[in-house]
Formats: sequence, structure tokens, C-alpha cells
Amino acid sequence: STESTVTIIVVGASGDLAKKKIFPALFALYYEGCLPKHFTVFGYARSKMTSEELRNVISGTLTCRIDQRENCGDKMDKFLQHCFYHSGQYNSEDSFKQLSKKLEEHETGRVANRLFYLSIPPDIFVDVARCASRSASSSRGWTRVIVEKPFGRDAQSSAELTRGLKQHLTEEQIYRIDHYLGKELVENLSVLRFSNLVFEPLWTRQYIRNVQLIFSEDFGTEGRGGYFDNYGIIRDIMQNHLLQILALFAMEPPVSLDAEDIRNEKVKVLRSMRVLSAEDVVVGQYKSHTRGGVKHPGYTEDKTVPNHSLTPTFAAAALFIDNARWDGVPFLMKAGKALHTKRTEIRVQFRHVPGNLYKRSFGSDLDRATNELVIRVQPDEAIYLKINNKVPGLGMRLDRSNLHLHYAARYNREIPDAYERLLLDAIEGERRLFIRSDELDAAWALFTPLLNELESNKVAPEFYPYGSRGPIGAYYLAAKYNVRWGDAS
Ligand code: BG6
Repeated sequence: STESTVTIIVVGASGDLAKKKIFPALFALYYEGCLPKHFTVFGYARSKMTSEELRNVISGTLTCRIDQRENCGDKMDKFLQHCFYHSGQYNSEDSFKQLSKKLEEHETGRVANRLFYLSIPPDIFVDVARCASRSASSSRGWTRVIVEKPFGRDAQSSAELTRGLKQHLTEEQIYRIDHYLGKELVENLSVLRFSNLVFEPLWTRQYIRNVQLIFSEDFGTEGRGGYFDNYGIIRDIMQNHLLQILALFAMEPPVSLDAEDIRNEKVKVLRSMRVLSAEDVVVGQYKSHTRGGVKHPGYTEDKTVPNHSLTPTFAAAALFIDNARWDGVPFLMKAGKALHTKRTEIRVQFRHVPGNLYKRSFGSDLDRATNELVIRVQPDEAIYLKINNKVPGLGMRLDRSNLHLHYAARYNREIPDAYERLLLDAIEGERRLFIRSDELDAAWALFTPLLNELESNKVAPEFYPYGSRGPIGAYYLAAKYNVRWGDAS
């Protein structure tokens, strides 16, 4: 209501994430009129800075999206007037008390809600949660805390972090972000499945041969190696982003769209999955490659990466869900950095048509004749279904074509950044797209034994050249389950 205020406190305001994602997302929400009338943005970090200096930093990060050009400069100026800075220590309740006093000056007696965004390294999450809850939580409104991965490195460290946070916050106050859940096409998965008659009935082992979740980036760690080397691609992308997509893809229909109903189904499907084993995983690491006269450095040539690092920058895995719906259907994941293209997609390969009358038209390669549904999460968002049709004319030749929903052609508007959706949801108290602690536990339970095995046996990654399609091993892994990667050609 107009009588309440919201303050978004960006803890770690001088960091990369804050500059690249959080401030721009807040501005976009402001531009769209989605923020409450009385809102304030507070940057908090150790470095000394004035509010004016913070505004300069922020204004350098703001852009106006294509459909937001009108009055953009004006809006930016107005937005910046809502932004302030307070410097303090991350582990000092005193510093947070000071902060709280400042916040009160802006809250002017209204119902005052406070959203802390912890854009800081995970080893200080609990300190900040403690200081914020003891010294800066709102006495006249809600207090919520957004945290961003890494949520630990394995089941044990993640459980410890959860315990630490829960000493100071309730589960309802904790908003764990997986920004892939805020992506338009990931959100659309549920609409696709549950509001179209033609998909959900086919969404079972009876009709689906395999499902592929593919994440590829065409750049390396480039300076982020310090963080990345301690985690690797399995923790960075698979255990969270791809597994979350898988859970939404494979869960049973929820009782309703309420956060708890959806998250209950996600946990159930995660808990029905088989724990990963090293035989079903291929790991890789990119090495340098020169193309068109340009030398792209290998992973271990990154100055922030130790020379003999075995950390995987690529992984492929076969996962299985041991429940009635999915028994025996391979879910293949592939995630890699420094590959030939930047793309995230879900590929659903359907089974062969029983007794196909047109069998002969496909020669010996019936796999090529199956329907495939592709959900391209990014870039250039799209959903298309590969079907067989007759080439027009007097002969009888078959062709493969796409029934195609291409977002750029269908909608004349930019798709909001994932962080906009997620920040707005956190402000509104909508927890559907945030990870509940039991989901997190289930996700770690699946991957922890594998990670331990890879790391304690010092399994050497298979090298692949920067800009290539990744290690050959990924193709063998797929072949083991009679799968051909849909993105291979
Ligand atoms: C982050 C990972 O969570 O997601 C990065 O830590 C990765 O390594 C990034 O590059 C990809 O996100 P997006 O939204 O750019 O696809």
C-alpha cells in the first residue's frame, strides 16, 4: 500500500553482481512502475563512498532497453534520487545498527519493509544474516534476505550454511536465488505443460525417448577463475541451473500454483532421482586454441587459475528418475564453457512411431524421424517442434519441418532479465521461484558422492579446444544410452 515503504539493501554494493544485475534490474522495475511508491535502495559495503559516488557508479550501469527509450534519462535521474550508500563492516552489529538508523530516516514512521540482498562471498553470509537480523531487521514490517549461490560446496557444507542462516532467519525470510528460474522460458515450462492438452499427456516414458538439457557458453572463465576453480562446472551450472530446469520439467502436476505446492512437487521428483555415479559422467577442460589468428587461452592459462588445476569446465551426465512416469528415460545434461556457441536449451526427443507406414522414407535412420521439441531458453528465445511432412508435389518425399514459436517475431518487446522477475517476486513475497532448503538438500544429495569421487580420485578432465563442441566422451556417454545429442549437427 502507499503507506508502506520498501528498502532494498544491496550488501556488497561495489561487487560485480550488484553492478551488472541488481541495480539495472531495480531500475528496470522502477521504469516499469513495478516498485512501490515509497522505495529506497541502499548500497552497503566496506569501502568508503558517498551516496553521490554510489549514484555515479550505478548510473554507469543503467541502460534503457529498446522498448524503454522514452524519457529514459529522466527516469534514471529520478531513480538515482532513491539510491543511498552506507559503509560498514560485514560482521559488525554496530555497523548494521548505524545502517538501521539511516534506514529509519527514510522510513518516516510508515510500515517499513526491508529486503537485504547478499551480493557477497558465501563465507560471510551467516555473519551478515546475524548482524542484519539482530541490528537491522525491521520492527514495523517484514525483513527478507536474498542469497545467491554458491550454497556450500557439497551436502555437508550446504547443510551447515542452512543451519547457520536459520539461527538468525526463518525459512520464510530466506530467498535463495537460482536466476535460471527467473528466465522467461523456464517460467513458461509450466504453462506449456499444464495449459496445453497436446503436451502433458505425452510427458511420460511412454512417449518420450530422452530429454536433453544443454548449457553452453562461447567464452571461458576470463578472470572469474578465482571463484570458478573452487567450484567447477558441475556445481556452477548442473547441480543448480540445469537440475532446477529438470525438476520443473519432470515434476508431477502441482495441486496449485502456490509456492509450497510447486516446491513440494520439485522436491519429490529430485528425491526420486538416482544418485549420480562417475560412470555416467564425463568431465572436460578447455585448452588453448588459435582460430583466425586469435589465440584463445586455455583454462589453466587464466591467471586466476592454478597451473595444474583439474577443475572441469565441461561436464556431461546421464540422470535417471526412478518413478512411474520416467522409469528408464535418460535425462542427459551437458554444460560447458569455451564451447562453439552460447546457448541454453531443453530438447525432448519422442519415441518412434509404432508401425510407421513411412518407415522406408527414412532409410535405416529412424531416429531422425522422431518428433523433437526444442525449448530454447536463450539466446533468441523460441519453442519449436520438429515434425515430418510431405514435400509438396506429385512424388512422395518426406521432409522435416519446424512448428515454430519465435519470441522475437511473435512479441514486439524485450524479455525482462531474470533478476527483474526475481527481485519483484521477493518484494511481493512470492516464493515460487526461490529454492526451499529441502530442495537444496535433495539437489546436493544427488551430486555430492560424484563430486567426492571425482575429487578424491583426481579424475583428469578430457581436454577440448577452446571454441569446440567439447570432449568426444560426451558423445560416447550419450551413445551408451542410445541417445544422439540434438544439438550435434
Ligand atoms: C552463473 C554462473 O550462475 O550463471 C556463471 O556462475 C554463468 O558461470 C552464468 O556464466 C550464466 O548465466 P546467464 O544468465 O548469463 O546464462
